[in-house]
Amino acid sequence: MKRTPLLAGNWKMNGTLSEAVNLARDLFRQIGKPSGREVLVAPPFPVLTCVAAEILPAGYLLAGQNLHWEDSGAFTGEVSARMLVETGCSHVIIGHSERRQYFSETDASVAMKVGAALRANLIPIVCVGETLAERENGQTLGVIERQVRGALVNLTRSAFPSLVLAYEPVWAIGTGRVATPEQAQHVHEAIRRLVTALSDESSAAMCRILYGGSVKPDNVDDLMSQPDIDGALVGGASLKADDFARIVAFQS
Ligand code: PGA
Repeated sequence: MKRTPLLAGNWKMNGTLSEAVNLARDLFRQIGKPSGREVLVAPPFPVLTCVAAEILPAGYLLAGQNLHWEDSGAFTGEVSARMLVETGCSHVIIGHSERRQYFSETDASVAMKVGAALRANLIPIVCVGETLAERENGQTLGVIERQVRGALVNLTRSAFPSLVLAYEPVWAIGTGRVATPEQAQHVHEAIRRLVTALSDESSAAMCRILYGGSVKPDNVDDLMSQPDIDGALVGGASLKADDFARIVAFQS
């Protein structure tokens, strides 16, 4: 099964309005219209609309970095799925390890957010990953299984084929310490087996599993040559147009 690779840039809390628009323009200058692969950016909320105007005509996809599980209401500081949709988002990142670590997100809140995204026809990009201590204690696959099952507990079968999962080992995020292609493939394969058990073989074969954690121009080719790595969720390197362009142009 050939899945279209998805290269996603998570800008995190970087980029004022002018910086974000400049970055989006630089990306288009360097990448042009991608063919045979999908390019997605996830800028901060206040700049989504302006970035959308730059990148949607180029055929890139737009994502929010988070959302609230309710559709609307008295939740100061939060953003709903429908708000994201109206800015042009087709996707939303859910359960990033920084959200779990600094904002107390749990498997249960991640599951509610996945539900909210699907109700609004947003495709969730669900992040999972173990800490260094968990890896060193041999708990990697157990942690990943708990997070994947927890996030997808309410998913109906029809939602699985378009679902995106991102395996992001916490120890590799922003550290320059990337998982080896073999380490990543081992976990990706386990995730696909789990998705098969939760849905069926053909849905699991369509579902894309991205790797994230210190993806750079010099390691993307080896990562993308693994059979179950269907793309990358890129933090730091997505803020530099030439680096992200090289990542989008990966050779495997
Ligand atoms: P990084 O971040 O590429 O800077 O390691 C990845 C992520 O957090 O999605």
